[in-house]
Amino acid sequence: TIRHFTDLADAGTDGLKAMLAAAKARKEARAGSPKGTADKDAPLAGFTLAMIFEKNSTRTRVSFDMAMRQLGGTTIVMDAGSMQLGRGETVADTARVLSRYVDAIMIRTDDHQKLIDLAKHATVPVINGLTDASHPCQIMADLLTILEHKGTVEGLRWAWLGDGNNVLHSIVEAGSLLGFTVAVGCPEGYDPDPAVIDAAKARGGDVRITRDAGDAAAGADVIVTDTWISMGQTDGAEKLAAMMPFQVDEALMAKAASDAAFLHCLPAHRGEEVTDAVIDGPQSLIWDEAENRLHAQKAVLLWCLGKL
Ligand code: CP
Ligand code: NVA
Repeated sequence: TIRHFTDLADAGTDGLKAMLAAAKARKEARAGSPKGTADKDAPLAGFTLAMIFEKNSTRTRVSFDMAMRQLGGTTIVMDAGSMQLGRGETVADTARVLSRYVDAIMIRTDDHQKLIDLAKHATVPVINGLTDASHPCQIMADLLTILEHKGTVEGLRWAWLGDGNNVLHSIVEAGSLLGFTVAVGCPEGYDPDPAVIDAAKARGGDVRITRDAGDAAAGADVIVTDTWISMGQTDGAEKLAAMMPFQVDEALMAKAASDAAFLHCLPAHRGEEVTDAVIDGPQSLIWDEAENRLHAQKAVLLWCLGKL
């Protein structure tokens, strides 16, 4: 069977743990090496990853490209608008064709169904580089960051503040697979997808939604937020006003555990979902988190290609 990574659950608890261990070990092993040099074992020598972007990206694009270089492989990066996909060739036919040229495909798209269709018709692994529904590669980096700074991910208390979006969905999924709780502080009307919450609960996940930011943050080990307006959303002032009570500021951080970590997938909208004092403050791990996209994705690529 082909190892797609459309969501964290594709890898299961054991797969996720294996990826995190591999990411950490590889990061440590190559510390200090020039960034474009290959890891000693170059496990993906001869392999090519094609990347399709239907939305903007800085981190995902560059980190996947560098990840393949460090694994000994190569990449082809395409904006969907310049592909035939952009003028009506189907996702299914695109999947069939690309599978004849490359060893794996990553896609960043809007409708999650496009990712699922790509995976259904591809004969090589397909990786979710963000959809409107989820962002599993980001959460692999978040988990690696917490693992490094706290020694474990199990048993921790995470608090999410703000919009019930794609990034939150993957955090909720991760909590249910790896055993940490998620308290979601979000305004009415902006809840995460109930199907994601139900799936997490069915797996034994501990996730709750509250309308009170302080209640969500109380005692948390990890405070995490994201932009209030995601790519493709057209909300305006009304949403920003509803979100304001969920801004992560120093007063909110003070309600979390004294050694709580602050995470943000970036790009940030300073003064909206988070204040400068928090995102630039001592509890913020955002630059390690961004770096860890590279290390985590190397492990995702290795898992997908049967090297883990
Ligand atoms: N966090 C993240 O996915 O960043 P990019 O949109 O820059 O890829
Ligand atoms: N929720 C954001 C994440 C960007 C990396 C978005 O979808 O735009």
